[in-house]
Amino acid sequence: MITATKTVGMSESLLFGAWLKQRRRVLDLTQAELARQSTCATESIRKIEAGALKPSRGLALHIALALHVPAAEHEPFVTFARSSQQMAAADAFRAQSHQVPSPTSTPPAASLYTLPRSLTSFVGRAREVQAVVTLLRRPEVALVTLSGPPGAGKTRLSLAAGQRLQGDFPDGACFVPLASVGGAHMLLPAIAQPLGVQESPNQPLMLTLQRYLRDKRLLLILDNFEQLVAAAPLLAKLLTAAAHVKTLITSRAVLKVYGEHEFPVGPLTLPTIGLLPPPESLLGYSAIQLFLE
Ligand SMILES: Nc1ncnc2c1ncn2[C@@H]1O[C@H](COP(=O)(O)OP(=O)(O)O)[C@@H](O)[C@H]1O
Ligand SMILES: [Mg+2]
Repeated sequence: MITATKTVGMSESLLFGAWLKQRRRVLDLTQAELARQSTCATESIRKIEAGALKPSRGLALHIALALHVPAAEHEPFVTFARSSQQMAAADAFRAQSHQVPSPTSTPPAASLYTLPRSLTSFVGRAREVQAVVTLLRRPEVALVTLSGPPGAGKTRLSLAAGQRLQGDFPDGACFVPLASVGGAHMLLPAIAQPLGVQESPNQPLMLTLQRYLRDKRLLLILDNFEQLVAAAPLLAKLLTAAAHVKTLITSRAVLKVYGEHEFPVGPLTLPTIGLLPPPESLLGYSAIQLFLE
């Protein structure tokens, strides 16, 4: 357990304390929850928020991680947390992070994960994107599989739906490419990698990942699951421990796990040969739009 160091006068640390309380509430964390994630005592968080305790450097870094402060902003964050020049340190942190450390404003929750942007434009498929978004927003739906043949557009559809959904998840959305993953035993390392989770020598990776994901509010996109269908029970075991994680999968075949919702993806629409509509309406077909891009 990390211990907080120095006790300070009320006014010195109140600005950081107020900011911390605000940020914690935005992330929907209790003091006890933040303390657990920062490996310190609940009492330390309470005192820091009340401006009665200045965190040690180590504790400040743990708090930064728990609050999803991006790595590039850790130093100004630590200075803000520990400085007796609170106003100046707050300004420096604000300049770096574009977040306003004021108790009256709501800082945007910085997401831990964001999806890769496609380099080419996304054509058509508005109805399918909306349907996938609506499906995953249903409270009882946590796992959706976009199924279909190679080239049907599953990956692109998953990314388009993911872009629309990532704002729903405070920790964002993480894309896990599985196409080159050799066998079922490589599934968990392949998921750990883009999440930035390190395998620890004395703990099974399943447990490490379960513990990591337990408090995360995240959309996971697992792309190309088809050759790992044998590992579907492993995935199910991982996800049962992750109550706030939703998963969007692309796969040629469904996984057949409990709670899976299949969304079949067909090819981009084409007009029926022999019944060609007038040229001006051809743009209504997404495959033709794509061809004309
Ligand atoms: N809606 C779309 N708009 C633009 N390009 C698309 C769209 N859907 C698929 N593509 C393109 O078609 C190809 C196959 O799509 P992809 O999503 O990789 O299919 P799958 O994952 O089903 O194999 C890719 O080059 C992709 O960029
Ligand atoms: Mg694909």
